[in-house]
Amino acid sequence: MGGSMARTYYVTTPIYYVNDVPHIGHSYTTIAADVLARYWRSEGREVHFLTGTDEHGAKIVKAAAERGVSPRELADEVVGQFIELWRELNISYDDFIRTSDVRHERRVQELVRRLLARDQIYLGQYEGWYDEGQEEFVTESVARETDYRGAISGKPLVRYSEPSYFFRLGRWIPALIDYIQSHEDFVRPIARRNEVLSKLAAGVEDLSISRLLEKLGGWGVPMPNDPAHSVYVWIDALSNYVTALGDPPIGDEHDGERARFWPADVHLIGKDILWFHAVYWPAMLMALELPLPRCIFAHGWWTSEGKKMSKSLGNFISRQTIRDITREYSRDVYRYFLLRQVPFGSDGDFSHEMLRRRYNGDLANDIGNLLSRTVNMIHRYCDGAVPAPTGAGLTEAAEVRTVAEALVTAVPSAMAACQFHTVLEGILNLAGATNRFIDTTEPFKLAKTPAAKDRLGDILYACAEAVRIMLLYLRPFMPETADRGLGQLGWSVPPQPTSDLGRWGVLPAGTRLQAAEALFPRKT
Ligand code: MSP
Repeated sequence: MGGSMARTYYVTTPIYYVNDVPHIGHSYTTIAADVLARYWRSEGREVHFLTGTDEHGAKIVKAAAERGVSPRELADEVVGQFIELWRELNISYDDFIRTSDVRHERRVQELVRRLLARDQIYLGQYEGWYDEGQEEFVTESVARETDYRGAISGKPLVRYSEPSYFFRLGRWIPALIDYIQSHEDFVRPIARRNEVLSKLAAGVEDLSISRLLEKLGGWGVPMPNDPAHSVYVWIDALSNYVTALGDPPIGDEHDGERARFWPADVHLIGKDILWFHAVYWPAMLMALELPLPRCIFAHGWWTSEGKKMSKSLGNFISRQTIRDITREYSRDVYRYFLLRQVPFGSDGDFSHEMLRRRYNGDLANDIGNLLSRTVNMIHRYCDGAVPAPTGAGLTEAAEVRTVAEALVTAVPSAMAACQFHTVLEGILNLAGATNRFIDTTEPFKLAKTPAAKDRLGDILYACAEAVRIMLLYLRPFMPETADRGLGQLGWSVPPQPTSDLGRWGVLPAGTRLQAAEALFPRKT
């Protein structure tokens, strides 16, 4: 491709509520987004990675009142905790948006103004149930099914009866169904897409998109046409994905700042908030005549030690638990575990036992052991410099090379589909194949026979190359550990696309190795 404009890549996490402390669920989405951001940056794309906090709404107002602080004080406090956790987990976000930011609030008002101008909003009366846990209006039939309780929180639904503005959601449903059906990759995974489609087919009413501001103690974004009402917290929240880019313009210094990143490549979310993202958000964008995001990916939920996480059960994986884990192992190990344990999209269970097993198995035995065997042998038999391959056509090395090339070929599409476990399996596969290669070719025996010098050199070159490629692809997941491993190989990653660097043979012969050091000391 000519020109110097790199293709953009825009990834988002949900913006997290500030009524509660950060936990494993938040860290999961954010780590996944970080892996994507790091990977696409490494491929030379111009990446924008957005995260942030969702600060308005009844839930926050209540939580603040319970603690005897103002919503803003609560938000400031919890935002600090999120930022600290993201630093501790090495999250490379480019922007952190808060829905209480002036840049956001004013743009939400502008979006609503545009919807009003397009006759997408009308004044009516809301009469019905509201789930404050999910910040969601609930129909009578759904309310009856859940015994008038929040489906997730279990707390009683609240009855609302007040004038409210409505978005003409119903109008957009046929177009939306059409869009989802004709764009395979739009809502993922496929099973979730089908759920959305069948729920859409059952019919969807217009959406109440305002609440009386006084009922929220004034904590919300006022409707631009009627400031007694505030914009419904989900409309406010979903808008963050464009407002953070400086869109729409409102005449401040952020105007159009990063507008080139829209449409987003992927909105990563949990399965519980798919309906808002797959229905309300695209309908709103259609009504605004804005392009739709390329993909909305809903991941599964974590249980802990076999049970739903709860503070009273003592299995809650809080920020403190995460910190304990990263101290005992490392932050990279925590990142690895979350993306390795289950295919992205499925539910998973976190257990300390399983973490230990993955650590000792995948990381210490397969990856760490391969690195130290390779580095030690090159020190011992080749004076610490990568031997030049003779090209003698070693059949066993060709097999390792084939496994490495399969990994390099599979990664871009796996990453494009958020299939992290596929990438990690490919990496482990390569480690396994290379370990077996060492076992069968027995370089330690060849080292005793001067006539086998070329064969030995070819074997060790293949090992070093396999290790380099394995660590190169591990970098987005375990950035610090992978670089330490590459450092032992004497190789630091030049600023070239990963898919070029992944080619077999890039490691220069003669590269001087550093001392071997265990990347993953075994835990008992
Ligand atoms: N504020 C809304 C999102 C607005 S996006 C425009 C929200 N916030 S949240 O803080 O409640 O949840 C954020 C994310 O955490 C959701 O994607 C949710 O799926 C995820 N998780 C919460 N608990 C979880 C687990 N136990 N496991 C995995 N993810 C979970 O919703």
